[in-house]
Amino acid sequence: MSSERKYLRFTISDRIEHWVQMASFTLLGFTGLIQKFSSADISVSLITLLGGIEFVRIIHRIASIGLMLGTIYHLGVAGYKYYVKRNRISMLPTLKDVTNAWNIFLFNLKVQKTKPQQGRYTFDEKFEYWAFVWGTIVMGLTGFILWNPITTANFLPGIFIPAAKAAHSGEALLAVLAIAIWHFYNVHIKHLNKSMFTGYISEHEMLEEHPLELADIKAGVAELPQDPKIVAKRKRIFFPTFSLAAVAMLIGAYLFVTWEETAIETLPPAENLVVFVPYTPTPLPTPLPTVTPVQVTGNTWNDGVAAITKSKCGACHGSTVLGGLNMSTYADIMAGGVSGGVIIPGEPDGSLLVSRQTSGDHPGQFSDDEINLVIEWIVAGAPEE
Ligand code: HEC
Repeated sequence: MSSERKYLRFTISDRIEHWVQMASFTLLGFTGLIQKFSSADISVSLITLLGGIEFVRIIHRIASIGLMLGTIYHLGVAGYKYYVKRNRISMLPTLKDVTNAWNIFLFNLKVQKTKPQQGRYTFDEKFEYWAFVWGTIVMGLTGFILWNPITTANFLPGIFIPAAKAAHSGEALLAVLAIAIWHFYNVHIKHLNKSMFTGYISEHEMLEEHPLELADIKAGVAELPQDPKIVAKRKRIFFPTFSLAAVAMLIGAYLFVTWEETAIETLPPAENLVVFVPYTPTPLPTPLPTVTPVQVTGNTWNDGVAAITKSKCGACHGSTVLGGLNMSTYADIMAGGVSGGVIIPGEPDGSLLVSRQTSGDHPGQFSDDEINLVIEWIVAGAPEE
């Protein structure tokens, strides 16, 4: 087997492309599916394991950048092969592919004894390739809408946003299943085809899968010889042209990614809050002291003066007795303070209480009306009743 001739099927560049798209696709599919089925137990565990939904969304977006860069690179490689090397466009579907598909179907049913002979790419490989192209277009467009919903709403009706979400999620499932079933069957189960990793394919495999290509190689017509001068000229045209196109596409990809502030940036970072606060009895509010305005009706100690002295002076000359003066009762006030009597009946000017209050700097002050009332009371002989 080891002495068997091998044919280069995929160049290093092809294989790098495959690695990039494989890694991006796997990450996209994985981080996308756990978002699509976010309430499933397995998704919840995986999202938690990855560090939260914000992180999953960021990985998804980074992987999509990988896919975009891979796609731009692929356009360059395909353009180079087509324009500079003048390779046959062997990936284009032809009518022959339809009959090939039908004949393979009959062959599998054993209705037909021989397999149809196919070239560099079999009909199922072409189908997969174009499915990938189609999928990338759909996912790219709907992904843009989901990534930039405000911009989208400036150009399209708002309904396009939920529609894009439905298409993105449905097409994603289709793509993942296509890879997991169709692609894996073709390259791993039907027979283990390692050419995308080793680059080479054996003569036996060539004969089985791509007999027409093998025939062309043997006949020396698979790649037509090119005049090196013409090739050099084509390169001089191709590289600057594609570089410009690549710069434009890279700017496009950059805008795709950065155009809009998304929910990831605008959401306030997660905060840990106590949602259950244990019950602690709240002390009942103490009722505010009700201030009832003193109603002065008569002009005796009992009817008026006692009430205003109690309210204005009681705090310092009642429960506490400052300056030796207690004004709780008629007897107390008439007894006076440290300086002796404070009320001299009939003589307001001689009464210490009046002079202390009219000087206006006492820690407790009567209002003007109140002091006048007290003066009148003293003039009247400061009666108790
Ligand atoms: C915030 C506390 C406070 C309030 C309220 C207060 N006083 Fe006094 N009062 C004092 C203090 C302290 C003294 C002793 C020091 C002084 O003589 O200034 C005093 C002394 C006095 C004296 C002199 C007593 C003496 O024998 O020397 C008189 C008269 C007096 N107060 C009248 C009044 C009257 C009338 C009111 C009510 C309108 C009143 N005070 C409200 C704090 C208060």
